[in-house]
Amino acid sequence: SAPRLIDPFAREINYLRVSVTDRCDFRCVYCMAENMTFLPKKELLTLEELDRMCSTFIGLGINKLRITGGEPLVRRGIMTFFDGMTRHLDSGALQELTLTTNGSQLERFADDLYAVGVRRINVSLDTLDADKFARVTRWGRLDQVLRGIDAARKAGLRVKINTVALKGFNEDEVFDLAAWCADQDMDLTFIEVMPMGDLGGEDRVGQYWSLQELRAHLATRYTLTELTERTGGPARYERLEETGQKIGFITPLTHNFCESCNRVRMTCTGDLFMCLGQEDNASLRDIMRNSDTDAPLVKAIENAISRKPKGHDFDYSRQKADGQVSRHMSHTGG
Ligand code: GTP
Ligand code: 5AD
Ligand code: SF4
Repeated sequence: SAPRLIDPFAREINYLRVSVTDRCDFRCVYCMAENMTFLPKKELLTLEELDRMCSTFIGLGINKLRITGGEPLVRRGIMTFFDGMTRHLDSGALQELTLTTNGSQLERFADDLYAVGVRRINVSLDTLDADKFARVTRWGRLDQVLRGIDAARKAGLRVKINTVALKGFNEDEVFDLAAWCADQDMDLTFIEVMPMGDLGGEDRVGQYWSLQELRAHLATRYTLTELTERTGGPARYERLEETGQKIGFITPLTHNFCESCNRVRMTCTGDLFMCLGQEDNASLRDIMRNSDTDAPLVKAIENAISRKPKGHDFDYSRQKADGQVSRHMSHTGG
């Protein structure tokens, strides 16, 4: 039978998230400080190393690969890497190749993404108001992202919108976002802000808006029915009965989903993090670089999986962001 990676809590790890760059053309206020110091390029895995790394994981039973960042589409030559992954889709080893993007480069890359076998993408979008969009991303252009989303849909990609719930920012847009997504047959998922990385003075607790409250707000206008289906991601889904629309809720703070975790994530420098909310990691880059055969890398991966922790300890319950993780989300790609 096919190889499988099983962690100490009997969870099967079949999903790898790979950050291919820590850079981004935006600076979302909950994600990055305005003045970020990015890694020197020589620290990054090369495109060839990314291929070797991902292929080794796929050989060990990873069948779902999500490319993230930073913004994955600002990594130079990234389509060469995607193109290489097509062979794993063709062989059937990989069931899904996908990415999470801010949408800014989609107009340019949508057709190429479809051509390499991507069928579904997640696009981050926190507001439909151009001024607010420029504020939350610090300088991003909404029209560029909207054109990108259009291009993606025209290329045949299914688009899921990710919206981070932000107090005092998009509370008033929940209905508009839901209607806008329903209108274009796009799924919508709301996310609770997680305490990751130094934001350069931004107030994380002040940004936090629990999805319990957001859900209650939705319930003033819609009847919500909990759905039992899962997509292999952390989201729970509910249906708005009046429209039939499905809404996802990613609630790391109010509803821990770690017990069914199926994923690990790799940074753009080849560090494998077993949990988004924990610091323990395995540095795989040099193990891979120092050996022509993959055996040492395979061993290091198996060893890392054997110490995957039970879950994260994010907690806002005491008026400060407890369980704060020092690295930025863009480091591990969420
Ligand atoms: P699909 O379920 O395949 O659509 O993907 P996804 O929702 O897991 O991926 P996406 O990249 O869109 O992530 C959405 C949000 O979920 C991001 O804010 C991620 O940081 C968060 N997320 C993804 N996986 C985990 C996880 O294992 N733990 C926690 N706490 N958050 C996660
Ligand atoms: N908490 C929650 N979500 C975050 N994202 C980035 N930083 C955070 C954070 N601190 C989201 C982005 C994107 C996804 C990959 O992660 O909006 O949708
Ligand atoms: Fe860039 Fe995404 Fe972070 Fe915004 S949330 S700064 S788009 S990586």
